Amino acid sequence: MGQLIRIQDIARYEGQQVIIQGWLQLKTGKGKLQFLRMRDGTGIIQAVVFQGNVSAEAFDAAKRLPLESSFVVGGIVRADVRAPGIPGGHELEVSDLTVVQESAEFPIAPKEHGVEFLMDNRHLWLRSNRQWAILRVRATIIKAMRDWLDDNGFILVDTPILTPAAAEGTTTLFQTDFHGEPAYLAQTGQLYNEANIFAFGRVYCFGPTFRAEKSKTRRHLQEFWMVEPEVAFCTLDDLLEIEEQYISYIVQTTLRERASELAALERDTSALQRVTPPFPRVSYDEAVKMINEAAARGVTVPPNDEPLPEIEWGNDFGAPHETFVASQFEKPVFVHHYPVQMKAFYMEPEPGRPEVCRSADLLAPEGYGEIIGGSERMSDPDMLLAAVDRHHLPREAYAWYVDLRRYGSVPHSGFGLGVERTVSWICGLDHIRETIAFPRMLNRLYP
Ligand code: 4AD
Ligand code: MG
Repeated sequence: MGQLIRIQDIARYEGQQVIIQGWLQLKTGKGKLQFLRMRDGTGIIQAVVFQGNVSAEAFDAAKRLPLESSFVVGGIVRADVRAPGIPGGHELEVSDLTVVQESAEFPIAPKEHGVEFLMDNRHLWLRSNRQWAILRVRATIIKAMRDWLDDNGFILVDTPILTPAAAEGTTTLFQTDFHGEPAYLAQTGQLYNEANIFAFGRVYCFGPTFRAEKSKTRRHLQEFWMVEPEVAFCTLDDLLEIEEQYISYIVQTTLRERASELAALERDTSALQRVTPPFPRVSYDEAVKMINEAAARGVTVPPNDEPLPEIEWGNDFGAPHETFVASQFEKPVFVHHYPVQMKAFYMEPEPGRPEVCRSADLLAPEGYGEIIGGSERMSDPDMLLAAVDRHHLPREAYAWYVDLRRYGSVPHSGFGLGVERTVSWICGLDHIRETIAFPRMLNRLYP
């Protein structure tokens, strides 16, 4: 019979009799020969069924099987450089075939479908090669995100999803009912991370976060995953050094470990190869100047070659502004010292320049925009309380957070890296919806 193997390990079994369990992805054939393109979750291989090698019943099944049927084949692994598949280079000479279930007619055919149709059938669309490749890259990115932190002195401390108060503005809260009290799905774990640093020094949380974004864009989800490191005794400058090491590790690890998936996605990785420390740094003031000079020259920006709009100092960047600023550099770029008025309440103002704060976003190249938001946090309790009031936030809900600053407060900083935006960038995708198995978007909760 042979040993049950996984397609990703196929090269180790050349010339041997093996068993593979999987699904039929594509079928071609003529007369006495059927080619079954088979997927087992780890890879794709062509199973060659020759009438003379199998029982009449098995050959009949091979001819009849509809796409997405589940089946088990036994056969000998043959090397063939031209053999299609992932990893490719081998095919299976079938001697035995058993059908597990003959599939009903699969609604997704190997032709162009509209996005809404594919999203309605996301539960089935996930089986396509492209979605498979993206989600395998995602898994590796997440592993790299965790590995680097675990190996660099950070402790994972999980933070709550049900929270009593807003942390990233009150306009994007999902409200839920906590036994008669309002509760909100976490927009971030940061505030809790800040408590945890006093016990552990360097911590991170990693989990789903929620934003009731009213906008439909290529970059926004309602539910997304974020990794959030937080560091005691750390200034903004120290933080940026951590971030550039971190992002470089994630990108280089993914390039190395997911080369065949990135190739399947036809990702040109030349810009990604350059992602090594240090990254350029530009202040918000400088960025505004760059934007407005370019806007005056009539510069246009991708993806639609629209004119770059001017920006007034104090306003948040739109996607075209981020795309333009990033396009001026070879690597991801830090934009630092944003105006206080456009950022969250907890950011440390710059001494001597209270209108800007010690914050920095990291903008990814190639139009992928902000992937990291981070800052130094206010460490003084009175200043923090004043900021809570200025933002019209309820003092009671933040009492514990202000309290942290009364018992050995230290300069501390942290950042949040969005998983899906990072996947979108590294895979070179047009839209964030493909970066997570079941995206939650404005107008989309099903499946
Ligand atoms: O800039 P943001 O809002 O920062 C925070 O939440 C901080 N509390 C993080 C921290 O300092 N611990 O979000 C951080 C990152 C963004 O740069 C982006 O990558 C991602 O989270 N993000 C989103 N991703 C997908 N859809 C959305 N609606 C997102 N909002 C933020
Ligand atoms: Mg941000």
